Amino acid sequence: MAAQKIFILGIESSCDDTAAAVLYNGKILSNVVATQEIHKKYGGVVPELASRAHQQNIVPVIHEALKQAGISKKELSAIAFTKGPGLMGSLLVGTSFAKSLSLGLNIPLLDINHMQAHILAHFIEEEEFEKPKFPFLALTISGGHTQIVKVSDYFKMEVIGQTLDDAVGEAFDKSAKILGLPYPGGPLVDKYAQKGDPKAFLFPKPKVGDLDFSFSGLKTSILYFVQKQVKEDPDFIQKNLEDICASIQYTIIKILMDKLKKAVKQTGITQIAIAGGVSANSGIRKTLKEAEGKYQWKTFIPKFEYTTDNAAMIAIAGHYKYLVQDFADLGVTANARIKM
Ligand code: KG4
Ligand code: ZN
Repeated sequence: MAAQKIFILGIESSCDDTAAAVLYNGKILSNVVATQEIHKKYGGVVPELASRAHQQNIVPVIHEALKQAGISKKELSAIAFTKGPGLMGSLLVGTSFAKSLSLGLNIPLLDINHMQAHILAHFIEEEEFEKPKFPFLALTISGGHTQIVKVSDYFKMEVIGQTLDDAVGEAFDKSAKILGLPYPGGPLVDKYAQKGDPKAFLFPKPKVGDLDFSFSGLKTSILYFVQKQVKEDPDFIQKNLEDICASIQYTIIKILMDKLKKAVKQTGITQIAIAGGVSANSGIRKTLKEAEGKYQWKTFIPKFEYTTDNAAMIAIAGHYKYLVQDFADLGVTANARIKM
């Protein structure tokens, strides 16, 4: 039998990025993301505006992904789309588009869990990038989720710890907002933190059981701290921005690392992969790399472009579903709260 040629179109529209990617046998041919700038002035994602922007972007984004891949839509083997979790109005745009395209082209449809896809991004075929071997632990850190996942196979994933309130990305973004930085503030906190002293200010770490996380207390303590300092010196933030950011980031990384160490101890698994938007954070990437020598872990850090929301991760998840012919039927619907 001749080797299979698998072309998967991935479509992602769960939040505020409209994205499409084409994969050929697990390798990227194109990876297009249209980030919606409109939310910046509101300091967060406005669901109704996100849905509308997806409707405007989806056709040009998919067109561009096919064009960059250099293939016609008739060559596609299947279409993978994000079923959830995410914002309902946003998910519906990608879901309906994927369903109509699959019907029109008469090719299989693959429904993908966004959080599983963040983890499966590690399986995109890349030179010089080693893939994790099962079982491994994944730390999924995004704007909506914070989880430690035991990954036993491509679609066999068990959440063994998670946040009880805010996600890590929210902790970054809300702290940034307190400091007067625009949305999404995570990347900016990262940028300023690189020049600051991580031990300049001390923030309390939450006390939550076992492998779970909590970040809402941290946000509150940063708020009270900043309010108090600004009362004494109105220029406090400006004068100390780098040190404040470095201290916040240091605290968040410490919280994540403490739980990871605990998870390794409990499971005996020392292969760790990070996934999700916050895994773009330079401090987290550096700390995890250092953990290889420090704790004898093997760590997997995704390429920068596969950390924040993208469709390449949806397409690779689709690729592995395609291999086992786990297709969705046309009655499939979006599910905003789908579990791992
Ligand atoms: O995975 P993602 O793109 O979307 C969700 O599914 O939520 O994650 C977005 C989150 C935002 O909270 C953003 O501030 C954060 O990832 N983020 C960062 C960095 N880059 C993105 N947080 C800290 N440092 C970064 N460099
Ligand atoms: Zn995401």
